[in-house]
Amino acid sequence: MSIRIVGTGSTLPKKHVTNEELTRLVDTSDEWIRERTGIGGRYVSQGETVTELSASACEKALKDAGKNAEDIDLLLVATCSPETSIPCVACQVQARIGANNAVAFDVNAACAGFLFALHTVYAYMEAGIYKNALIVGAEVLSKIVDWNDRGTCILFGDGAGAVVVEHCEKDGLLGFVQHSDGRKGEVLRCDTRSLVNPFVDRPMEAPYVQMDGREVFAFAVRQVPAGVEELLQKLEMTADDVDLFVLHQANFRIIEGIAKRLKQDVNKFPVNLDRVGNMSSAAIPVLLDELNRAGRLKEGMCIVLSGFGAGLTWGACALRW
Ligand code: COA
Repeated sequence: MSIRIVGTGSTLPKKHVTNEELTRLVDTSDEWIRERTGIGGRYVSQGETVTELSASACEKALKDAGKNAEDIDLLLVATCSPETSIPCVACQVQARIGANNAVAFDVNAACAGFLFALHTVYAYMEAGIYKNALIVGAEVLSKIVDWNDRGTCILFGDGAGAVVVEHCEKDGLLGFVQHSDGRKGEVLRCDTRSLVNPFVDRPMEAPYVQMDGREVFAFAVRQVPAGVEELLQKLEMTADDVDLFVLHQANFRIIEGIAKRLKQDVNKFPVNLDRVGNMSSAAIPVLLDELNRAGRLKEGMCIVLSGFGAGLTWGACALRW
């Protein structure tokens, strides 16, 4: 028993913001951003919510899969930038698309969120509990980014990607690994509402993303290839057996470093971060959808997905497409 992806969809906000436009907000340059990150632009919400972007991506994924919303029995949304703490985004998406037979809840593992949600669906399906799932990765990070901080505001973008997953008898998801290390959580964090009530007296913390970029960079280039190697060893495969590495899109230099560590041609690592920036949970499903629509995912291909980010969290899985 395994699971396979049978449909993909994605939706990005209308507004595209180039690096050049950011030079009007902070002391930076297109050259600096491209050289250090590979990012040339990103989509930024002017009102589109995580729920709206998610619902739109779900509708496209359902159409691609040839399924109806009522067929779905499990709906997970991976996000770290919901508009509401309650109800969760997944329940709001459920209502919007009419997935009335699904159980719906959110998963927050930051940039590894989509991957962890996929693994959660795998576990449910292997246990025979659910048969048809929708998994979404969606973010509107522009509302938690400090647009005066040039160290972070240049990196992130908004968007949503969704996949329809069904159980299958063989192939599909071949195996996965996932890890967390909460001891390193301080290197990338975003506070939520401060504790404000009549019984405390403390200053408000700025609820914006704060990051130690160098630490995050070092973590990614060390742990991601180690995680992929662990996965391949578990599956008795080598990196040469993998056709495509669909990695979290944080920084092109990180992707190059990972390709080098795995001794693989960087062309096996598709990228879209030059256009969309780092969309956290949405990065992998949006890239998967773009590859799917471009006809780059061929039946029988071995594809490794790998996500990493705040928490710290990281992991990888291998799929036979
Ligand atoms: N434009 C111009 N200069 C900038 C800048 C910007 N947007 N951001 C930082 N700088 C400056 C710094 O102030 C510093 O100046 P100084 O030397 O005068 O002090 C200089 O550039 C170098 O800063 P540093 O932070 O060492 O740069 P870096 O090479 O580490 O690149 C990141 C910064 C953020 C691009 C890089 O660390 C990174 O990508 N880290 C991973 C972040 C990430 O992917 N996070 C999400 C993970 S899911």
